[in-house]
Amino acid sequence: MSYYALVPAAGGGARMGAGRPKQYLPLLERPLIWHTLATLCAVPAVARVFVVLAPDDAEWERYDWSAFAGRLEILRCGGATRADSVGNGLKALLGRVAAEDWMLVHDAARACLTVAQVETLIAALGDDAVGGLLAQPVADTLKRADGAGRSEGTVSRENLWQAQTPQMFRHGLLLSALASAPAVTDEAGAVEALGLKPQLVAADATNLKVTYPLDLHLAEIILRDRKQS
Ligand code: CTP
Ligand code: MG
Repeated sequence: MSYYALVPAAGGGARMGAGRPKQYLPLLERPLIWHTLATLCAVPAVARVFVVLAPDDAEWERYDWSAFAGRLEILRCGGATRADSVGNGLKALLGRVAAEDWMLVHDAARACLTVAQVETLIAALGDDAVGGLLAQPVADTLKRADGAGRSEGTVSRENLWQAQTPQMFRHGLLLSALASAPAVTDEAGAVEALGLKPQLVAADATNLKVTYPLDLHLAEIILRDRKQS
């Protein structure tokens, strides 16, 4: 049984509004995704890191990836949605990856992931029958809006978690889960639709997804702080 990372990186970054995919925006003098891949390639248990690019991606080739030579492979099979990109990546690996091998699906946009966070996930799931994901218990009080920007109620945060990535499931299970629930926003959602219960493994807010311009600034602060300590 092996562990592989699969990194969907075929999005356009519309909410970032940078006019180009956010995975290539500069972050500490590297493209953002470089940091994501550096962490995944540094996890000894992960046999190989697969990156799913959009078929028409013209930026990847502009950068130097030699630091990851032998650890990294690109798959130019991104789709219209994140779930399509992940599903296409899983299909591309049929025959190379066994059904019971673990896939750690991780957003390219979560550039502050640490080796320790990945190792915590792998250790927590061990030989779990279902798999699971990094997540964080909701800390804030939650409000339900009326559609016009006014709060009409408070939602209990008890048992509510924010899903992160990596999300770790076996290749065979994940492929069939995504085939039967293609409209999900994460892998765990597809697995839940099969009636299974992915394990929630506590992470922290530093594993943020760079979505808006402020997130890029926060990611820079987090990475810079780590370099200095
Ligand atoms: N992703 C992908 N294929 C898509 C859409 C998204 O591989 N068709 C990837 C993104 O590249 C990103 C991850 O899925 O690493 C999480 O998606 P998100 O943060 O939504 O990124 P974008 O879709 O690029 O951003 P936006 O939704 O703002 O356009
Ligand atoms: Mg998106």
